Amino acid sequence: MSILITNIKQLLQTRNHNVLKVSGKEMKDLPFIENAYLLIEHDTIVEFGKMEDMGDTIAEKTIDATNKVVLPAWCDSHTHLVYSGNRVQEFIDRINGLSYEEIANRGGGILNSAENLQNTTEDELYNQAINRLQNLMKLGTGAIEIKSGYGLSTEAELKILRVIKKIKHDYNILVKSTFLGAHANPKMYKDNKDGYIDDIINQMIPTIEKEQLANYIDVFCEKGYFSLEDTDKILAAGVKHGLTPKIHVNQFDALGGVALGVKHNALSVDHLEIMTPKDIEVLKGSRTMPVALPSCSYFLSIPYAPARAIIDAGLPLALASDYNPGTTPSGNMNFVVSTACIKMKMTPEEAINAATINGAYAMGISNMYGSITRGKKGNVIITEEIPSYNYLPYAFGDNNIDTVIIHGKVIE
Ligand code: NIG
Ligand code: FE
Repeated sequence: MSILITNIKQLLQTRNHNVLKVSGKEMKDLPFIENAYLLIEHDTIVEFGKMEDMGDTIAEKTIDATNKVVLPAWCDSHTHLVYSGNRVQEFIDRINGLSYEEIANRGGGILNSAENLQNTTEDELYNQAINRLQNLMKLGTGAIEIKSGYGLSTEAELKILRVIKKIKHDYNILVKSTFLGAHANPKMYKDNKDGYIDDIINQMIPTIEKEQLANYIDVFCEKGYFSLEDTDKILAAGVKHGLTPKIHVNQFDALGGVALGVKHNALSVDHLEIMTPKDIEVLKGSRTMPVALPSCSYFLSIPYAPARAIIDAGLPLALASDYNPGTTPSGNMNFVVSTACIKMKMTPEEAINAATINGAYAMGISNMYGSITRGKKGNVIITEEIPSYNYLPYAFGDNNIDTVIIHGKVIE
């Protein structure tokens, strides 16, 4: 199957193959072609350029994009998509005055989701997850990372990772999977966190390697969850078994987890709501991508990651959804991009770069995803008729997407 998109008002993020991420001032630059065409053959971008240079190009299917913008599909590098049920009651409790911490301390929060998941069959878990995934694909997400972390026992963590593996197999979308066994200390190990860490290191990680169930290892490095010392140990064990670190740090406190991530050559450090100048300094010259999750800040009413300080220090920044039942019950990347502009003072160019090419980098796939580049995957969003790409973040909460194409297939 080949698809030719013609008369595109603005074709965004046209790049050469060697651009794998953009940092600092480069983030303000979003290359685009006006009055453009794009040709996708099978699952690959093969040609694009100005309409006047299209010549006699033909395809099995032609889509007219007059007055429409075309951009790469979103690359969401941080989600917890495989969970069971919801935490609506905690949402109400927070409205009525309880804090996230207070809810967690009385056995709610992550432990609440873990109990729910342990009582959910693998089939039911899969069905809930694919419902969410199908919605996200219609909202323009064309590559996604999914974490475990709501199991908190060997059996339940492996159940989640097998569901992710089945999604990878069944759906025509790039999925990267992350083992986040160290998400919270389970009830069973209430007074014996080291016992749980021992299970993570000696049972879960070796099985994950044997069954090739994950690409990445993650830890929730935070007061009341996993300390710097715990995180160091768990990441080292993961690396030994072929997993690349990607960690949750600086959501509520700056403990030094960013430096620890850099020490372990983490692909990304995620959250970063509370950042010290030292945390920013230590990222310079590293391969580690800082990842901000503005929908989490929005939902919990906590600070936003200091995007301006990070970018103005010359660093790259990626944006992701953090889709999960507790802190971000939304995987809508359009909202993420809008919120980054409105609340974090990122320009539309910076936010779109952060949610495409830099998001792809944070999943280790920016050689194949995240830009309009010959040879990359045919993953694009075609908008409704809009005045310019600036209209996308401006019209927050609106769905301005007309068509989504993933791996050369129109999402119905
Ligand atoms: O990324 N911060 C840790 N983990 C999740 C949310 C956990 C939950 O409340 O379910 C996050 O925000
Ligand atoms: Fe998260």
